[in-house]
Amino acid sequence: MGRFAFSHRIAWVGSFVLALSTATAPAAAANGETTAPRTTLLLHADRPGPRIAPEIYGQFVEHLGRGVYEGIWVGEGSPIPNTRGIRNDVTQALRQAKVPVIRWPGGCFADGYHWRDGIGPRDKRTRSINAAWGNAPDSNAFGTHEFMDFLDQIGARPFVSVNVGSGSVREADEWLRYMTAPVESSAGAERAANGRAAPWAVPYVGVGNESWGCGGKMTAETYVAQYRQYAANLRTFGGGPTKLIAVGADTDDYEWTEKVMAGTMKSRPNPTPLAYINPRPLLWGLSLHFYTFTGNDWYAKGRNVGFTRDDWAKALGRAQLTDEMVRRHSAIMDRYDPEKKVALVVDEWGAWFNSEKDAPSALYLESTLRDAVIAGLSLNIFNNHADRVRMANIAQMVNVIQSLILTRGKEMVVTPTWHVFDLYKVHQGATQIPVDVDTPNYVQGATRLPTISASASRDAAGKLHLSIVNLDPDKPAPVDMVASALSGRRAQASAITADRIDRPVQFGQPDPFVPQPVKAVAIRGDRLTLTVPARSVTLVTVE
Ligand code: AHR
Repeated sequence: MGRFAFSHRIAWVGSFVLALSTATAPAAAANGETTAPRTTLLLHADRPGPRIAPEIYGQFVEHLGRGVYEGIWVGEGSPIPNTRGIRNDVTQALRQAKVPVIRWPGGCFADGYHWRDGIGPRDKRTRSINAAWGNAPDSNAFGTHEFMDFLDQIGARPFVSVNVGSGSVREADEWLRYMTAPVESSAGAERAANGRAAPWAVPYVGVGNESWGCGGKMTAETYVAQYRQYAANLRTFGGGPTKLIAVGADTDDYEWTEKVMAGTMKSRPNPTPLAYINPRPLLWGLSLHFYTFTGNDWYAKGRNVGFTRDDWAKALGRAQLTDEMVRRHSAIMDRYDPEKKVALVVDEWGAWFNSEKDAPSALYLESTLRDAVIAGLSLNIFNNHADRVRMANIAQMVNVIQSLILTRGKEMVVTPTWHVFDLYKVHQGATQIPVDVDTPNYVQGATRLPTISASASRDAAGKLHLSIVNLDPDKPAPVDMVASALSGRRAQASAITADRIDRPVQFGQPDPFVPQPVKAVAIRGDRLTLTVPARSVTLVTVE
């Protein structure tokens, strides 16, 4: 079995570290199950990396299918327990997973959204048509005030996408004023008349969505010209600086990244010496959209239930490409921004397979163990690139694509993806610890992938957290974690797995994805050993 080349190990560590001892032949576990060859993880706790932005664990919600209506908003008169129309079971689960930020209202929906439709008395709001998603009727019952209330109930912060495709600078500016201006202004007074006197803080503002596609079919040059106009005019009042996020590339459209960086990194110096003298970047972040299908074909996304071992491997291979996408887009950004001031914001990512014919709503997917593995793998990649990736928003939070939550009327289940976010929340705001991964290949047909993916961090209390994903659907993997100052410390681990790769979560059934303790986690000297289950996501904590 071939070892993974260094370039495929976690090369972001930056310096070469000698590979540690690794067994080459599969070993037999105590229960007789064949295990993968040993993996070694070398943690550089003495060379701490950047802070892992909590926003990497962000969410995306769009007016699409039952993402908002039923998924979040049920209305005050609903028999489903709710607080001011927002369902309690959903907010409780999102609070527990410590969701830091939510992107809204789209997606493709954002470039057709007119914020005035969603304010004022609900019974008087515009009844609009969601032209982005199947011409579904939208009562606009969930608008700005409801979104902000939802965030308050969870403890998350807003990331609003303003309408560039069919809106204007003026419309976007008025929305930001409505949300953030003091009550003494007309915009603030209107907000107060609608029930909210205090301004909201709106830290993140996305300028359009997929402007190369559903958001306007623009060339990069056209978008840059539009973006500069929005950037020059948009501001929020109070609550810290506005962090503007420009529309970035789809997948591997490196030319788009190049052109947007070239066109936004500098504004002309102001000739008045009393005003701003230094040219500065016009953007806080640049987005990237990258979805995981079964393989690399947008038009053949593959099944999300009843899939084969080949499908499993192809999907994980696609998810693993996230690393290449982040690396290559970042390398372009580095040329314009070597100090990495501009964030790469992966504001749409996740597993997107074909919905079943009888799916209850648009882009609704069953959620299986494979999603947990894709989430663990992707989040490890974002953690490992925390120097550049400072926000990511999984698509989409409830009932749409790779959800954390599924609802069916009054029922709700958390998905395997939710469990990964809940397990990984310890990384939020912690200091990244670089890891060298020396692992065998997992081979299925033409797909060869590193068996183990990992990322690590140290939190404010000094605890070390290591997340490990085992891509092998059959073999448990013995892992050695090597780090200094381990002796005398205690370790524990828990893992998300299931009896089969396509095990789904089901309404009314026990949750098969609740993390289970991993036995026999041992520390000897500078080495921690454990065996992670096949097809699993594991979190190890050393305190
Ligand atoms: O997440 C679903 C859709 O995917 C979004 O609306 C769009 O931005 C992307 O193409």
